[in-house]
Formats: sequence, structure tokens, C-alpha cells
Amino acid sequence: MSKLEKKVAVITGGNSGIGLATAQTFKNEGAIVVTNARNQQRLEETQADHGDLFDDVILADVTKVDQLESLFNSVGEKYGQIDVLFLNAGIAKFLPIEHVDDGFYNAHFDTNVRGIIFGVQKALPYLKEGSSIILTTSVVNQMGMANSSVYAATKAAVRSLAQSLSAELVDRGIRVNAVSPGPIETPIFGKMELEQEQIDEMAQGILGKVPLKRFGTSEEVAKAALFLASNDSSFVVGAEIEVDGGMATLG
Ligand SMILES: NC(=O)c1ccc[n+]([C@@H]2O[C@H](COP(=O)([O-])OP(=O)(O)OC[C@H]3O[C@@H](n4cnc5c(N)ncnc54)[C@H](OP(=O)(O)O)[C@@H]3O)[C@@H](O)[C@H]2O)c1
Repeated sequence: MSKLEKKVAVITGGNSGIGLATAQTFKNEGAIVVTNARNQQRLEETQADHGDLFDDVILADVTKVDQLESLFNSVGEKYGQIDVLFLNAGIAKFLPIEHVDDGFYNAHFDTNVRGIIFGVQKALPYLKEGSSIILTTSVVNQMGMANSSVYAATKAAVRSLAQSLSAELVDRGIRVNAVSPGPIETPIFGKMELEQEQIDEMAQGILGKVPLKRFGTSEEVAKAALFLASNDSSFVVGAEIEVDGGMATLG
């Protein structure tokens, strides 16, 4: 028996990196998989590139509360309920504190924190007893990494949300947990507005802090997400699973 047979899974940020690998993993386990796309162009690209993978791709920028509401209402109206909610969409850029401005701050908190708080709120009417919410945090939520102040603060907030929302929803039979990736090879590094040389330098610096001495793969994070999504983790609540090659605990 597949682990997510006929379960309805909504994955934000499902068209790239960790979200995409998780969508494939959930699909392989029998789930109905729905994702969002932040704009019309990304929607069309996602349908063209991954049309077979997703049962639905719905327009929703996670920074916009009204769009989150219509995303979850559409899923709820079509499928009746949501069994697995993987709130994974996020952005990550690194800047020295002197260069951080309002726009940089807002983009990170709106995507990484607002997107989760209102994502959970708007999905809640469709989350029934036995459902699982998974949030994507990051290894930087518990370590001091230069130039990561804003991003790391958003992920520390997400770590906190995994616990507080867990406490709030546990009596409704809804489990909330988090996956905390270390460095994972995904398109996120190409979106940092850095020169290739700077990316390579950063990658080398990060590698030196990973006991397993390599970047992880999206599929390795997807396996942890599958564990948290399925009944295999039925006694796991308010936890954060690190998928980081030992970076947070041994680094
Ligand atoms: N890769 C790592 O080393 C690493 C480490 C720790 C934590 N994480 C976390 O893992 C999660 C997934 O990241 P990834 O590495 O897989 O990066 P990615 O490949 O860039 O994927 C991020 C996804 O989020 C989506 N997204 C971003 N802003 C959005 C918005 N406003 N509305 C809707 N969708 C939005 C992106 O859509 P577009 O494709 O349209 O941009 C994309 O689908 C993030 O939360 C990230 O912070 C990653």
C-alpha cells in the first residue's frame, strides 16, 4: 500500500527544487498533488514542464493573503479536504546588515513568514483530523551565519511556528512539523543575484561547515517530508527534522 494513497497534498513552491522533488515523491506514493505558481508566466511554465506531475497548478503568490485564500478555497471546493500541507515556498538572499533595506526585509518576511501564517490560516477549514502540516525552515535558524540576518530570522520564526501552531492544532488531530534543510543543491542559489564566482565562494565556505562534506539533494529532503506527511510519523508533533549533513548539530 502506498503511503499517501489518494491523499490530497498541497505543496507551495512545488515547481522547483525541494518542492518539486517532494511533489514527485508524494505522487509516487499515490497522492493527488496540487501546487501554486506565483504569476501567470510561472503557471504556464509549470504546466508545460510538469503537467503530468501536478493534478492542479493554481495561481497564488504566497505573499498575498487573498491569493492564498483563493488557492485553498479552490482546492477545498474541488477535493473536499487537504490531507497534507507542505508550506515550502521561500526566498533566500544574503546581505551585510548595512545593505538591508525595507524592500529586502519585506520580501523575506512576506514570503517566508506571512506566507506560512496565512497559508495555515486559509487552509485550516479544509484540514481535518489526521492531516499533516509540514513547514520548511533552514539550518540557519539555529546558527550564526554572517550576512544571513534577515533570512535566518525568518526561518527562526518558522521554527517557532512549527511549535506554536502544533500546540494550537494538536487537539484537532492536526500534526505540525518542520524540515530543516542544510545546503541543498537547488535553483535557489541562482536566484541570489550574485556573480557565479561569489556563489562558488559561498558554496566552498558552506561545504567546510558540513560534516558530510557535500551538498544534499532535494530528494533527500523529500524523503523527510514524506515521513512527516505519512502515518509513519503518527507520534511526531512539533518536531524539526534536520536534513543537513550534520551541519547544525556537529558543525
Ligand atoms: N536549497 C537550500 O540550500 C535550502 C536550505 C535551507 C532551506 N531552504 C528552504 O527550502 C525551501 C525551498 O527552497 P529551494 O531550495 O527548493 O528553492 P527554489 O528552487 O528556489 O524553490 C523555491 C520555491 O518557492 C517559490 N516561491 C518563492 N516566492 C514565492 C512567492 N512569492 N509566491 C509563490 N511561490 C514562491 C518559488 O517559485 P519561483 O520558481 O516562481 O521562484 C519556488 O517554487 C525554501 O523555503 C528555502 O528557504 C533551502
